[in-house]
Formats: sequence, C-alpha cells, structure tokens
Amino acid sequence: MFKKLSVILLLIAISSGSRLYADSHSAAIASAHPLATAAGFEVLAKGGNVYDAAVAVSAALAVLEPNGSGLGGGGYWLLHRQKDGFETMIDGREKAPLAAHKDMFLDKDRHVIAKLSIDGALAAAIPGLPAALVHIAEHYGQLPLAETLAPAIRYAKTGFAISERYLKLLTARAEVLNTYPDSAAIFLTKGQPPELYSILRQADLAQTLERLAESGRDGFYSGVTADKLVSSVQQAGGIWTKEDLAAYQVIEREPIKGVFHGIKITSSSPSSSGGIVLIEALNILSGYDLEDSDELTRKHLITEALRRAYHDRSLYLGDADFINIPVNRLLNEDYAAGLRSSLRIDKAMPSELLSGEIKPQPEGANTTHFSIIDEQGNRVAATLSVNMSFGSAFVAKGTGVLLNDEMDDFVSLPGAMNGYGLIGGSANAIQPGKRMLSSMTPTFLEDENRVAVLGTPGGSRIISMVLLGLLDFAKGNGPESWVQVPRFHHQFMPDVIEYEQSALSDAEINGLAAIGHQLKPVPNIYGDMQAVQLTKATKVLSAASDKRGEGRAIVGHY
Ligand code: GLY
Repeated sequence: MFKKLSVILLLIAISSGSRLYADSHSAAIASAHPLATAAGFEVLAKGGNVYDAAVAVSAALAVLEPNGSGLGGGGYWLLHRQKDGFETMIDGREKAPLAAHKDMFLDKDRHVIAKLSIDGALAAAIPGLPAALVHIAEHYGQLPLAETLAPAIRYAKTGFAISERYLKLLTARAEVLNTYPDSAAIFLTKGQPPELYSILRQADLAQTLERLAESGRDGFYSGVTADKLVSSVQQAGGIWTKEDLAAYQVIEREPIKGVFHGIKITSSSPSSSGGIVLIEALNILSGYDLEDSDELTRKHLITEALRRAYHDRSLYLGDADFINIPVNRLLNEDYAAGLRSSLRIDKAMPSELLSGEIKPQPEGANTTHFSIIDEQGNRVAATLSVNMSFGSAFVAKGTGVLLNDEMDDFVSLPGAMNGYGLIGGSANAIQPGKRMLSSMTPTFLEDENRVAVLGTPGGSRIISMVLLGLLDFAKGNGPESWVQVPRFHHQFMPDVIEYEQSALSDAEINGLAAIGHQLKPVPNIYGDMQAVQLTKATKVLSAASDKRGEGRAIVGHY
C-alpha cells in the first residue's frame, strides 16, 4: 500500500521534468497517454522489468487509445537486454484469416470495392497483440500477467476522461461506428460522440483482459473470448474461424541493423518495411554531407532517398514467411551507391521514371508508439496498431474488442493504392495466414555517447518521421528536439512531397518546385513521436512526447 502511494507521489513529483540523473531503479517512459506511462511505472515499482512495463503500457493503451491500438490489433516490440546485448523483435502483426484470398476485396469486374478492406468485420485480420503480451510476459518478464494487466483492467473498469484529441478522432469515425450496434453502445451516446471529459468505461473489455490475465493465450485465442469473437465476426459477414485464432502465433525475428555516420541502428524487420526502408534511405544519404548542404538541397536529397527506398518497398517487401526478400541487396552500400548515381542535385526524378502511376493520397493515419529505457540500458521500442483510426470500427459482441482493419495494408489489386496511398504488387498480395506489410518502425539508436529509443504512429509516413528524428539525433540534439522536428514526406507514389507548414520556408517551397517537385501541405497533426535517451557517461535519462499529441514522457526513480 505504502509503495503504491509512494509511486503516485513520485509520478506527481517528476511529471514536470524530462531529465534525471539515473541511479538504480530509474527509467524513462514516453507514451501517447499519461495513464499508460503511469501504468509502466506502476509495474516497475511492483518489481517488474522494462519488458513487464512494456506489457503494462501496451495493455493500457489498448484501453485508453482505442483509436490507435488494442487487443483487436497487433504490433512490433523491439527488445534489448543490456547484460548480454541480446536483441529481438516480437512480430505480433495480424495475419490474414485462412479463408482469405487475393481477390476478396474486388468486384466481378476486378475493381476494388470501396471501404470493404477498411470498415467492418471482413476488414479485420487475426489479432496478434494479446499473443505478443503473453509471449513477452512469459519469456522476458518477471511478473504474472495479473500484475502487468492490472492497470489496464482498472482503467477499463473505472474509466477515463475523454480528451479533445480523442473526441476529434472519434467524431471523424462516428458515422461508421454507429453502423455497428456493439461499437455504438461503447463509444457513442445515442449515436453521437459523447461530451468532452465524460468518462469512458469498457466493462466487456475489462472482462476480456481479465480472461487474458487468468488464462494467458487461451484466455483470448480459445474459450469464451474466441467463441464470442468468431460468432460475432461471422454474423457480420467476416470469415474468421476458431482455427484461425487457435493457429495464431507471434514470431521472434532478428531486427534489421545498419550504421549511419557511426550511429548503430536497430529497427523492425519484415513483416514491417520500416527498418529496411529506413536504412536503405540512410545508406543513400550517407554519400552526401547533409550538414554542409543548404536546407533546400538537404530536403531535396532526403526526398530523393525516400523516393527510391519506398519504390523498393512497393516492389520487394511483404511477409518474409511467404516471399523471398532481397534484404542483403537492399541494405548493401554499393546498391545504395547505384541508386545515388541516378540522383541529380539540381532536379527531382519523377517517380514514374522509376515505375508506376501517380495516385492521390487520402488523409488519415493512426497507430501508437511507446519507448522505455532503464538506467542500465535495457529497452523496449513498441509500435502498435489497429490500422485506421478506430480500426474497422467493429466491436465483437460481448468482448469490448474493437477489431483492426489491417487487411487494407495488403495489396488488394496490384498498383491500386491502399488507405495510405501506398501501392504494391504480388509481394504483398493477400494469402491465407500471411502478415500484411507494415510501415511501423520502432527503433533503437546508439552512438559512442548515447542510447536512444524512438518511434511514432502515422501509417506510411512513419518511416520518414523516424528518419528525420534520427538525422536530428545525428546533429547531437536530444529527445525534446527529435519529437518536434517539422515533418515532410515522400513515398514514391503519389509523387508529391507532403509537408507540415513549419517544415518548409516559402523559399524552399519555391526552390523545390523549381527543380521539379510537387508539393502538398498537410495539417500539423501527423505523427505522435515518443522518445527516450540514456547518456552513457553521465547516466542522464531524458524523454519527450510529441506536442502534436497528448502523450506523457516521464523520467523517474521507482
Ligand atoms: N497499419 C499501418 C502500418 O502497419 O503500417
């Protein structure tokens, strides 16, 4: 009891600061919701390690930020253990149901049926997040799930106040949520978004979490929860079976690694494209002196590097369990040099010269990220998702579980854009049991002096946001700076630089247009980066949450 009270006092005492000289039992956590960050510290104070804290934060976000992630979704957890340098990535990405097939979102004329892969039960793939939490707890944690899921269960039962940001995201998805009675009953009030600061309680979700805490993976992938999920999905036109749930397994994969100007990078491997695209783009950029270039040239070069790396994403990347990915070639420095040879300093290369057709990009992105590091350097970077805001908008009756719409991250038709404007081909075609290609990029950075953990939501723009954060780390700046870097993005198709207003000056906009770039401003709300850092010599921990979101970064003793 006393310990619990002291943790609460501690959190109050440190919540205004984001730097701390670490001693034993110190950590930094940055997440997209203050209560999720608090859940991480609560579990550390109970004797948990950073991996237990990651389970607690993931579960808490599933309750507090249903627009971004949840038990009905999936994600990637990058783990580092300091004592032996062990690193792994838990691939808890959703999988296509066994009855899925490559043409399932096409009409008889082979046109993509609008929204079928985005709204409702057919859009939902088999969730991986619950299995990942159980796996992390069993293989890396020190505490039982009953302890690590306790904060999430409490938040689901007693509720939390609805914020302005949540309400804005909910309002944008309210019409679709309202078409599913079990979703409307939880998230809407008489079919309308609730009042600002009203309390959202999720009693069914609390019970589903309790079954997970009591029975581990059987508490979700078989028994009562599985029965409810499958019958509800099937009644709504979906294709899940009990075999799909029983067969779901997370996979531990080798993270993707690279080096940029002496900075060691560890990032996500396929089924996410994040690490490969990030490091391929950085390999291209390593042939230039970005710091000595004027700002216009620097932005042009970053754009051209992203264009080429995202082009390879569309050609080669998908689930490594189903296709052969030429990872060594894509990460080879000579391959990057070849790509550089097609890059002109004075001219944009139209993407259609690489291949493909120009497509417009729709707005909208969601997902979540959190970063944790302790005073020893043990760390977790986790990016979790239900895909679009509030996923498929479909809640399975009696579970409180909002299902993902990750089926849209597959290629429904070669060359047709998905919800993020991404195109692709057969490498990312729908196949039963396959994981859809992701852009999630949980990342560790390490140089002589510092260790950093960072990542962000933002759909296809995740990789360019992490790249810009990394380039800011390379300048010697700290987390407060990385999370606030003004953002711009290019993803090969559509052939356009998307930019926050603060990212480009008028002179840069004119200069980039003059050398052939197309440009489009986007609202200053994309991304929600969460970052932490440990300075090796001084043992200073620091942390920052993106001011675009409502997250909370805390460094503290526990
Ligand atoms: N659903 C977004 C992503 O995985 O990239």
